[in-house]
Amino acid sequence: MVLVSGSGTNLQALLDAIPADRQDGRDSPYGAEIVAVGADRTGIAGLERAELAGIPTFVCRVKDHGTREEWDAALAEATAAHEPDLIVSAGFMKIVGKEFLARFGGRVVNTHPALLPSFPGAHGVRDALAYGAKVTGCTVHFVDDGVDTGPIIAQGVVEIRDEDDEAALHERIKEVERTLLVEVVGRLARNGYRIEGRKVHVGELR
Ligand code: GAR
Repeated sequence: MVLVSGSGTNLQALLDAIPADRQDGRDSPYGAEIVAVGADRTGIAGLERAELAGIPTFVCRVKDHGTREEWDAALAEATAAHEPDLIVSAGFMKIVGKEFLARFGGRVVNTHPALLPSFPGAHGVRDALAYGAKVTGCTVHFVDDGVDTGPIIAQGVVEIRDEDDEAALHERIKEVERTLLVEVVGRLARNGYRIEGRKVHVGELR
């Protein structure tokens, strides 16, 4: 399952990796299918992309719930209804809470537009640029109860150019990020994985 908040180009890369006639995943050489797409807001391109691909969608908005905890529980419930093996947060701009992690901990993958542990949070691209870093990139990692602190699965490096602004840099990061995310999700699905402390071992189940 994939969670989105915006344009959903990472979601699209995952959709494109799964041949249209093999959406059930079983015979797909890619090894995964997308069972649903969830969002924290309506009217976003990410939801449209899912609908175009014929994938079930749901929206769980914070403002429709009394507290953040109630929203988190509702998100967990909506997610559980689709029985996903893996949940991919691809540009989902909310921090999931205790209940969500209690149910899906160790199965939630996030992609972040910086080389963690540098520049966590909502403005990873802007912060790296403002800091004067010469390289940045993207990190695909498991989600834990911190902000972008979970065990790292893979990273991609992007050079920062003198003429870069946030939009140009983010676009180059996203080119690397989409390829990396597709590669990582496919490997996790096909080969299995084990998390040992901060280390993620893909394809080594014992
Ligand atoms: C991606 O670059 C992702 O890393 C970032 O939002 C973008 C979503 O793009 N996520 C975060 O900043 C989370 N802190 P997309 O909607 O086109 O896939």
